[in-house]
Amino acid sequence: MTSAASSPTTDEHPMMGSGRGRLAGKVAIITGANSGIGRAAARLFAREGAKLVCVDLAESITPRIDALIQSEGGDAVFLQADVTSAESCQGMVALALERFGGLDILLNNAGTGIRGRVDQLTEEEFKRLININLTSMFLCSKAALPHMMAQGKGSIVNTASTHGLLGTNDYAAYSASKGGVVLLTRSMAIDYGQMGIRVNCVCPGGTATPRLLRNLTEGKSAEEGQAALQASASRNRCLQRLANPEEIAYGMLFLASDEASFVTGHALAVDGGQTIDA
Ligand SMILES: NC(=O)c1ccc[n+]([C@@H]2O[C@H](COP(=O)([O-])OP(=O)(O)OC[C@H]3O[C@@H](n4cnc5c(N)ncnc54)[C@H](O)[C@@H]3O)[C@@H](O)[C@H]2O)c1
Repeated sequence: MTSAASSPTTDEHPMMGSGRGRLAGKVAIITGANSGIGRAAARLFAREGAKLVCVDLAESITPRIDALIQSEGGDAVFLQADVTSAESCQGMVALALERFGGLDILLNNAGTGIRGRVDQLTEEEFKRLININLTSMFLCSKAALPHMMAQGKGSIVNTASTHGLLGTNDYAAYSASKGGVVLLTRSMAIDYGQMGIRVNCVCPGGTATPRLLRNLTEGKSAEEGQAALQASASRNRCLQRLANPEEIAYGMLFLASDEASFVTGHALAVDGGQTIDA
């Protein structure tokens, strides 16, 4: 257990003067790694020296993320798996241990969205969304924790959302799932801090990923789609634009790395100021 007496001094901090990648020597699992924010995080983590197990339900993006990372000189393996299956979550941890000999970072990022008020959503739709966005994080964490607890260290980063910090209209299930992620994060930070495991989450604002672009433009003409994108961007009154996935990935990188060694239970809004102006 870390005490004030054993806190590292500035000179002793593991990141000081290492001159290496910010995740050098680390092994990370990233879920939802084939698209959008997860894809950007996987490339960034690999460039910063991490070895990666890239997990995704879908294989379809060309080049697949592991091939892309390998072409850039990184080390990654792809696992097609469903994060709502406890067995699959065990499998991804087993793969990290078998292939790379350890597990330091879990980035629980896979997720999806659905619009609708409570009276419009079916019970099945609500349960499905909670299962993909929240239960999956419980299951992946549950699979990773025994290893992290045994080694006495680890960093878990969850992808929540600004929808998890604010009540938002027309997104009842999504907001509930992401609010759950924020409080699962805080509860786990308390439970595992004394075991050397930090748990944080990133709360992205609107980010230009395939999923968001699809949601905003599907079934619309080019002009209507453009107007929907513009309206979404201008809902952010501070920076007045959507984020790029890489801008979210940099927040994840900080929380995952040893640079954030004194940060746990934090919900980092990477939202262009959206939540200070709600
Ligand atoms: N894009 C945004 O504006 C935004 C804002 C806030 C939060 N988020 C969150 O960021 C995360 C990534 O979203 P994105 O916009 O990059 O979406 P995306 O659809 O581009 O990428 C999500 C990836 O997760 C995968 N996935 C979905 N369900 C899965 C499952 N059951 N098992 C394994 N993989 C699964 C998908 O196949 C996809 O490749 C999600 O948790 C989302 O809720 C996104």
